[in-house]
Amino acid sequence: MTSTKAEIDLSYSVSNDFFELWLDENMHYTSASYLTGQETLEEAQWNKCRILYEYAEMSPEKLVLDIGCGWGSNLAYHAMRGTKRAHGITLSTAQAEYANAKKHAGVTVKMQDFWEYQPTELYDALQSIEMVDHVVSPQQANEGKAVELYRNYFKRCAELCKPGSWFGFQAILRDRVPRTKKDLEDLKFTADVIFPGGLNPRLEELIMAVRPHWECVEMRTQRTSYGKTTGEWLRKLRLHEKTIRAKWGDQVFTDYERYLDTCVRAFDQHWSSDVQMKLRRV
Ligand SMILES: C[S@@+](CC[C@H](N)C(=O)[O-])C[C@H]1O[C@@H](n2cnc3c(N)ncnc32)[C@H](O)[C@@H]1O
Repeated sequence: MTSTKAEIDLSYSVSNDFFELWLDENMHYTSASYLTGQETLEEAQWNKCRILYEYAEMSPEKLVLDIGCGWGSNLAYHAMRGTKRAHGITLSTAQAEYANAKKHAGVTVKMQDFWEYQPTELYDALQSIEMVDHVVSPQQANEGKAVELYRNYFKRCAELCKPGSWFGFQAILRDRVPRTKKDLEDLKFTADVIFPGGLNPRLEELIMAVRPHWECVEMRTQRTSYGKTTGEWLRKLRLHEKTIRAKWGDQVFTDYERYLDTCVRAFDQHWSSDVQMKLRRV
């Protein structure tokens, strides 16, 4: 079981205009990769795409699938690199409509549940950027099912591509547990209200789950990059406070400010991190 369509719509369908106000101009809703620390958010987001493009060993002729493609930001990168055919799937109707309206060359996005996706041909390469955080619910993790369910995810990914394919994978991670009641409440609020049904995996769970279908040949973590990314999102959200309160109401502003402020502290205090993996289909 993964986050349901209704839960996904709650997380990603406040309104495309709302997310446009505080994400970068290409609507990446995942950690950027700050490599020098001097980059703009936009530049750091393209760094992420380049790393995952290289992890997927992409070239223009290869057919690639982006699992959980959001508003199509990583697919836009493929269009810039001349990828002839890049497919994306998302469970959010608003995201699929937005991505297709951009008409990026060679890009097709479907509103499609990953678990039911039956492509007509096998992919040469896969990418998935922070979609796995929707694969296991907190209750399932409490029941000890996390590794088994992540393994199902990696197995299903393997079934979608040719033997020897490469997979550029990125996930948010959960790490230390905060100590104070307020911090615990803020994390619970983020999980329950902003991302219901989702749970960030632990690094060790992912390492166990990629086997036996994938071999992890390279890995980098980027906790501080996510801190900077969420810090930028929060700064931009606050810049647009008046508009957001007027258009979407006080509650939306208050909730998103609390969520993003919690994220900044989560990456700073090591409650959360982020990982990129280069995986080879065994
Ligand atoms: C945090 S967003 C990341 C979006 C995008 N990868 C990015 O970098 O901006 C998670 C994405 O996973 C998608 N997702 C979650 N569960 C899914 C499922 N079962 N099938 C397809 N997409 C799913 C959501 O619709 C959303 O687009």
